Amino acid sequence: MFFAPPSATYSSEDDKQPIQELFNDRTMSNYVKVAALADIPAGGSKLVEVNRIRVALFNLDGAIHAIEDVCTHDGGPLVEGTIVDGCQVQCPRHGARFDIRTGAALSFPAFEPTNTYAVQVRDGDIWIEEPR
Ligand code: FES
Repeated sequence: MFFAPPSATYSSEDDKQPIQELFNDRTMSNYVKVAALADIPAGGSKLVEVNRIRVALFNLDGAIHAIEDVCTHDGGPLVEGTIVDGCQVQCPRHGARFDIRTGAALSFPAFEPTNTYAVQVRDGDIWIEEPR
């Protein structure tokens, strides 16, 4: 479901801040800086933790992707997995594969996707949508 932000409407009589501004502020503050782009060379990965959630960052040919560092089969650490076929990570425990770009589970014994987080690179720093 998609909710378009209302334009130039007010949240209440007491609060005259336009809802559009609230939406924009929330969008911008929804990201947290987690690493420097230079920390992750092409083909590399890095573990970060935000709000007690482990997030695996991957650099696929210069594009940074962020997925939860939890294999949905049995909690394996995906950041320690092997990158195969250019865009998949193979869990180091039992070999399930996930699409790093979408989080989709691609092979047995995992069936459920892992979470993904939007990524922005700003001035050489990696920001991700705040995991909750
Ligand atoms: S924990 Fe990842 S395949 Fe089993």
